[in-house]
Amino acid sequence: MAATRLIATLVLSFLLLSSSDATHRKKIRSRRPCKQMVFYFHDILYNGKNGKNATSAIVGAPAGANRTTLAGQNHFGNLVVFDDPITLDNNLHSIPVGRAQGFYLYDRKDFFTAWLGFSFVFNSTRHKGSITFAGPDPLNKTRDISVIGGTGDFFMARGIATLMTNAVEGEAYFRLQVDIKLLECW
Ligand SMILES: *[C@@H]1O[C@H](CO)[C@@H](O)[C@H](O)[C@H]1NC(C)=O
Ligand SMILES: *[C@@H]1O[C@H](CO)[C@@H](O)[C@H](O)[C@H]1NC(C)=O
Ligand SMILES: *[C@@H]1O[C@H](CO)[C@@H](O)[C@H](O)[C@H]1NC(C)=O
Ligand SMILES: *[C@@H]1O[C@H](CO)[C@@H](O)[C@H](O)[C@H]1NC(C)=O
Repeated sequence: MAATRLIATLVLSFLLLSSSDATHRKKIRSRRPCKQMVFYFHDILYNGKNGKNATSAIVGAPAGANRTTLAGQNHFGNLVVFDDPITLDNNLHSIPVGRAQGFYLYDRKDFFTAWLGFSFVFNSTRHKGSITFAGPDPLNKTRDISVIGGTGDFFMARGIATLMTNAVEGEAYFRLQVDIKLLECW
C-alpha cells in the first residue's frame, strides 16, 4: 500500500515537473526581446609590430609558445586580454560608443573554440552603463553567448547575444557583429 502510494506520488511529481518545464520552455520561446541592439567590436592583436594600434594582447601561452604569436594546436592554452572599440557600424574608424573589455581563451586542442568573458562598457550620449557577457564560443558562423547582467541603462539585463565574425585579417585583426537580445529589462 505504502509502496503504491510512493509510486503514485513519484509519478505525479514527475508529471508536474515535466509539464512545468514544458510550459517554461514555451514561455521563453514565445517571449519577445524587450530590447534589441547591434554593435561591432574590433580586435587588433599585438603581434610584436603593431604596438601603436593593438587593442589586445596575449597574456598567457602554453609552454614552448610566446606572447607575440598564437600557439599551434588551435591556439590551445592562449589567453588574450582585450580593450576593443565598439562601433555602431562595421567601420573600425567610426567614433566608438564604448569599449569591449575582457578576455578570451582558447580551450580545445583538436578543435577551434574559445571561451569568452567580457563587458561592453558604454560611455556615449546614447548609452551609459555596461552589459556583461560570458560563455563558450564554438567559433561557428553564428553562435549565441549569454548576457548575464548589466549596470546603468542595462541594469539587471539578461538575454542572449548572437555573435557573427564579420571580418578576419590574418591573426592580427577580427571584427565581430554582436546582436544583443535582452529578455529581461528593468
Ligand atoms: C595598425 O597600424 C598599422 C600601422 O599604422 C597599419 O599598417 C595597420 O593597417 C593598422 N591595423 C589596422 C587593423 O588598422
Ligand atoms: C614566437 O613564436 C613564433 C612561432 O614559434 C616564432 O615565429 C617567433 O619568432 C616567436 N617570437 C619571439 C619574440 O620569440
Ligand atoms: C565618459 O565620457 C565623459 C564625457 O566625454 C568623460 O568626461 C568621462 O571621463 C568618460 N568616462 C569614462 C569612464 O570613460
Ligand atoms: C559548429 O561548427 C562545427 C564545425 O564546422 C560543426 O561540427 C558543429 O556542428 C557546429 N555547431 C553548431 C552549434 O552549429
